[in-house]
Amino acid sequence: MRPVVWRTGNEARAFNLPPGASIDVTEAGDASAVIVQALTQSGYRARLVSQPDGSSNATIVTEGLTSQDAASRHWLVLQAAKHGRRNGSLILLLQPNRAASGLEGLSRTLRKEWPDVDTFAWTIQGDTQADMGAQIVRALKQGFGDGILSTSGALMVPEAGEPLEPPTAHEAVQPAVWLVTGGARGVTAACAIELARAAGGTILLAGRSAETPWTEGLAHAGDLKTLRGSLVEHSRQNGARVSPAEIDRTARALLAGAEIRETLASVRAAGANAVYLPLDAGDAAAVAKTLSSAQHAYGPITGLVHGAGVLADRLAADKTEAELRRVFGPKVDGLNNILNSIDVGQLSHVGFFSSAAAFFGNRGQADYAMANALLASAGRTLAEDLPAARVKVFHWGPWAGGMVDSALASHFEAQGIPLIPVDEGARIFVNELLGGDRSQVELVVGEAWAVA
Ligand SMILES: NC(=O)c1ccc[n+]([C@@H]2O[C@H](COP(=O)([O-])OP(=O)(O)OC[C@H]3O[C@@H](n4cnc5c(N)ncnc54)[C@H](OP(=O)(O)O)[C@@H]3O)[C@@H](O)[C@H]2O)c1
Repeated sequence: MRPVVWRTGNEARAFNLPPGASIDVTEAGDASAVIVQALTQSGYRARLVSQPDGSSNATIVTEGLTSQDAASRHWLVLQAAKHGRRNGSLILLLQPNRAASGLEGLSRTLRKEWPDVDTFAWTIQGDTQADMGAQIVRALKQGFGDGILSTSGALMVPEAGEPLEPPTAHEAVQPAVWLVTGGARGVTAACAIELARAAGGTILLAGRSAETPWTEGLAHAGDLKTLRGSLVEHSRQNGARVSPAEIDRTARALLAGAEIRETLASVRAAGANAVYLPLDAGDAAAVAKTLSSAQHAYGPITGLVHGAGVLADRLAADKTEAELRRVFGPKVDGLNNILNSIDVGQLSHVGFFSSAAAFFGNRGQADYAMANALLASAGRTLAEDLPAARVKVFHWGPWAGGMVDSALASHFEAQGIPLIPVDEGARIFVNELLGGDRSQVELVVGEAWAVA
């Protein structure tokens, strides 16, 4: 486990773009013209473009500064980057500070997918557009890479620090009401069970799946392949003709129902009150309604664990908007919907499940890396706003469970990347969430494949 530390310095020289170079600035809002003016006054050949064509030395993408919803903003930035891509060129993605934004997930991923292009994300700390123009000119002259451009002219870069021993103990916690999204299934379920053991209270586990009861007379099976076979046999015995697609749907629903019941039983056996909330975190109205009645029944939510997530891997050049929205749905819209439905000031513990893909970038995961980087930025903002709370963002490497199926596990093992054992990951999660250093918000856990 390594803490993320912010290093401040002026010495970065990731590229060299002297005055005289041509720069296209995408026309996305009021800031674009201000940036062009500041660049022109400093001797750059800058122009506003509605869509970059890769003909200039550099492209500055400003869509990330607009006030559109997060998925639209991130999608438009990806599109502009695709149009501005040219061998040897520079692409700069701008985002404001303290805003729900995760463009460093994109720049880190694009540097892996497009090694012929320098792509960096700059988080602009200035308050006014005039500050912004001056900051950009200064950063261009210094050749800054990814990071926060501070008003003092320095760049702040996040880096994984020296390995930490995970805390082995934690302080006593008052019984609380926890919301754990994704907590009934996958690796978050193991974390919810460990949390129940350590903290008790009431644990609300939220997921999309229904608690489908097991079919009477159907043999029990714990894996999809065996269960599909049992269902075929079961329907044959009952004289029913069922399509393979229907068999697959039924098998998945039965396995999901069984996993949910197993998690509920384990959470209860570990000493907490367990409640399942069938809920799509990306559905704003459903989240508002469900959390309002849950809080009416159990009291205000004081602990939030956001583990819901899905993948839609594909290289950035081929990525579709629908895929990006599918990935942003649970992670980003989900977080927003939850924060809009609870009293954030009551939170004493917050744990976000991010991925090493956000911190290092990962081929095929531009949308996932952005969504997780956005979670990290939301975590940093919450930690600033709630100094008495413990806010932790876990940039997990691959686990031996959940999304990592046996094919993916073999792929990691073949590369010599050890997987995080599920019980160990759950213990690290709980000890950090309940007893970790409050000032240490982000943690990189496990061997990150992208270090290489
Ligand atoms: N496993 C890893 O190696 C790894 C590594 C890095 C980060 N992570 C992160 O850890 C978290 C858990 O991953 P996992 O491996 O356990 O994945 P998983 O097995 O696919 O589980 C995903 C969980 O999210 C829930 N979920 C998905 N969409 C949802 C939605 N719209 N609303 C509510 N719940 C939703 C799922 O329940 P339903 O299907 O019932 O909705 C399930 O409980 C994710 O956020 C992932 O990004 C995992």
